[in-house]
Amino acid sequence: MVRPRTPPERSISSNRGGSVDFHLRDEELPTHWYNFLRDLPAPLPEARQVGRPTPAELAERIRPRALLEQNNPTVPWVPIPEPVIDRLIQCGRPTPLRRARRLEQYLQTPARIYCKREDQLVTGSFKLTTALAQAYYARQEGREVLVSETGAGQWGMAVALASQMFGLRGHVFMARCSLEQKPYRRYFMELLGTHVDPSPSGRTRVGRELLARHPGHPGSIGSAISEAIETSLETPGAAYLSGSNINHVHLHQTLLGLEVRKQLELARESRLDELIACAGGGSNLCGLMLPFLKEKREGAPLRFLAVESTAAPRLTQGTYEYCRSDVAGYTPEVLAYSMGKDFVPEPVHVGGLRNHNSSPLVSLLRRHGLLDAMAFDEQVALEAGRVLLKTEGILVAPESSHAVAAAIDSALRVRGTGEEKVIVLLASGSGFLDLEGYHQVLGGGS
Ligand SMILES: Cc1ncc(COP(=O)(O)O)c(C=O)c1O
Repeated sequence: MVRPRTPPERSISSNRGGSVDFHLRDEELPTHWYNFLRDLPAPLPEARQVGRPTPAELAERIRPRALLEQNNPTVPWVPIPEPVIDRLIQCGRPTPLRRARRLEQYLQTPARIYCKREDQLVTGSFKLTTALAQAYYARQEGREVLVSETGAGQWGMAVALASQMFGLRGHVFMARCSLEQKPYRRYFMELLGTHVDPSPSGRTRVGRELLARHPGHPGSIGSAISEAIETSLETPGAAYLSGSNINHVHLHQTLLGLEVRKQLELARESRLDELIACAGGGSNLCGLMLPFLKEKREGAPLRFLAVESTAAPRLTQGTYEYCRSDVAGYTPEVLAYSMGKDFVPEPVHVGGLRNHNSSPLVSLLRRHGLLDAMAFDEQVALEAGRVLLKTEGILVAPESSHAVAAAIDSALRVRGTGEEKVIVLLASGSGFLDLEGYHQVLGGGS
């Protein structure tokens, strides 16, 4: 296919003394994913394979082989297939980096705040970056159907579009409460021919059992994963894909940090103090931060900050223990910060942060003191989202508004001190389909 091209020179659009966007040319999109495994402070603890067939044996059946291999790449840089690069560019990569000067002025802070605009991708979130790669490999290996779960629906939308782009059918289980809160995400998926079921659903054994025990079950990412895996195992030609929490997803998302590095150079930024991202399964966070891990471990004074929801405060209040991502036991037991397998988060509007455990990788960073964490409730986070909208005209997803709240908090700490500080916050998604949530939590007035 022909790639749409940006002009040959690097384009920086400025709005006169206000905020500035730093764009990379299409040709500057990294051509390789970064293998961060060599930079970790310790090897990832072995997952426990409990049950028969083991989770690893199940994964062999339902996950594309190339993706299993990318959980543990042997080369420092993993090449991105050309058809994936074409689609990434078509869908909006590289995304801009905004110097949010009007937010800085509003906060009266000497901090320089940069916002990575993943909300600009065509499905409205960073999730599309890995969905395109995963769909490509599934197709290469002759699969016909992509099955997955989704919390808030952003990952589901990415799967739906990626399925179409690579000639596959989609089937997505979406946490029931999110499906009710955000019907437009469902309509988007259905428009692309993806079948959407609420989770828990009556379609699977796991779903029926959950509903029998708890008829009003709001669903969670854990219930939806179990239903998606059960369905993948029973559907001929199906591949099971994950939107987070697993190494190959974090690998694909390293494009975020790699782009940010180039954009900070373009901005002639001399320092970098803080990288801030919200944390659900950890993939936007890992994508932004892992390309910078080596220099942090070598002593760069760079803070990594994870921001979670008080509805699922795993990194700030959870226990470091062996746990599973799904409720039925199809996934291996991994060592991670967890709220316990039976924990069902409140049905808040931040569906993408309603995980009962964190990813082993994020947990390892936290365990080794490389990652700070804080939690906000949705009222505070969405209020921060409103500030970003008022100052910069950027409406972020409720998940991302948690990162915005942390960035504001950090920028305010240097107010009145004249201290320099450079913050990069990740706008992981757009909030246009989450306006109902903003409205319910914040009401109409400002
Ligand atoms: C917009 C958005 N941001 C963040 C997340 C959290 O996921 P992760 O922690 O894998 O980045 C999600 C998950 O659905 C999301 O939709």
